[in-house]
Amino acid sequence: MPSSAEEALGPANLTVGGETIELPVQQPTLGRKTIDVSSLGQHGLAVFDPGYADTAAYTSAITFVDGEAGRLYFRGYPVEQLATSHSFLEVAYLLIYGELPGAEAADNFVAKVRDPKLAIHVGIERMFDTFPQSMHPMAMMSIATEALTAYADEDAGLDARARVEQAGIRLLSSMPVFAGYAHAVLRGVAHGKSNRSLDYVEDFLQLCFSLPGSDHLPDNATARALNTLLILHADHELNCSTATLRMVASSGASFYAGVSAAINALWGPLHGGANQEVIRMLQEIKDSGKPLSAIIDKAKDKNDPFRLMGFGHRVYKTTDARARVIRQIALDLVEKLAPEDPLLEIAMKLEEVALADDYFISRRLYPNVDFYSGIIYRAIGFPDAMFTPLFVLGRSAGWVAHWLEMASGPGRIGRPTQFYNGSAERNVPARPGAS
Ligand code: ACO
Repeated sequence: MPSSAEEALGPANLTVGGETIELPVQQPTLGRKTIDVSSLGQHGLAVFDPGYADTAAYTSAITFVDGEAGRLYFRGYPVEQLATSHSFLEVAYLLIYGELPGAEAADNFVAKVRDPKLAIHVGIERMFDTFPQSMHPMAMMSIATEALTAYADEDAGLDARARVEQAGIRLLSSMPVFAGYAHAVLRGVAHGKSNRSLDYVEDFLQLCFSLPGSDHLPDNATARALNTLLILHADHELNCSTATLRMVASSGASFYAGVSAAINALWGPLHGGANQEVIRMLQEIKDSGKPLSAIIDKAKDKNDPFRLMGFGHRVYKTTDARARVIRQIALDLVEKLAPEDPLLEIAMKLEEVALADDYFISRRLYPNVDFYSGIIYRAIGFPDAMFTPLFVLGRSAGWVAHWLEMASGPGRIGRPTQFYNGSAERNVPARPGAS
């Protein structure tokens, strides 16, 4: 385990078959004491850790999740302090460069991200025109990001890190436009035009809600709420999609290929796709008229694959830091924009019933970031399929930071091992009739 801020502790002794192996132990700045097992292969040993729950595969200085306390830190700052005091692009700058920008640095960064030279290439615009209305916008986002490999022109004269930095700025510049175009495809109308003189979030909202058939343009309070949501989603250390991004980076593939893969990992219902599934679940509860106890029993039934969507987390063992902020935004925004929406009330009752149930208490399952975010997006007027692309908009900042961190240090290709439980060596049987 390299790097400076950790404290070396006495070694851990592992005794296997009479042999004792000394393994170095270090205390990171924040988090669990970590045993360096990277020498075990030399002793013919491996560790088994399904889901990598207890495996640190990288050192990182970007984000820390304190699952026991329900806290989330970006570069050491508690996320709830950043959530309402800064713009999303300022927080993206913090994640990428390590410090909050001063006024001049913030202006320069915004100018770079909003540079008209980074407008979406007409080839990618045409691609959106060919996407069928039935395509999920996460597929559109992933394809469009991958297509940047063909249309982006990062300066070949720059070193690898500076090229990724340029590509990262292009990504932040492109994502709201891709999401806005995807929204138009979903609605079955021609996409609008990005207006780069507008604020980042306001431009995205006008791109989505100035379309033919839209009946309102979200107000400033909605733009502020969305800005906060993007910040809350901006990074979350080594979750499934960021680990995917790092895995792709480790092979030397292109940045856009890595982000495209991360978008696909985020899409799954156990990860970022949960925000869409929560609304589907709440709607089903409403339509079925069944009591909440029936849905709770279904989630507890080990013979039923159904899980209470928006509940539980690999790291958080108390309420998700982000969920606390999001819950309050949901209460405020729904009351203002969609007071007649019955799903918020169902969600609050469901949360109350689950939090009082022994099954959820004993497993320390609490609402996560996705439990209330869909309700907010729905109140703003986004269709369900757009919820996970909104997650992508925020998370793109973290993906840039993680790729840059990898590009800045020595890396090793990601290649987990396995516990093989197939056949031992055996001979291929002779074909019947063969001599
Ligand atoms: N509903 C019912 N039971 C659950 C739930 C849930 N939402 N989440 C976990 N459990 C149960 C498991 O069945 C397991 O029970 P057991 O010990 O009796 O076998 C126990 O709690 C531990 O669960 P694991 O699956 O081991 O937890 P893991 O860390 O692997 O999974 C996950 C975390 C995927 C988030 C899980 O809690 C889940 O499926 N939640 C619902 C989907 C969701 O909301 N995902 C969004 C997460 S936030 C994000 O990615 C942005």
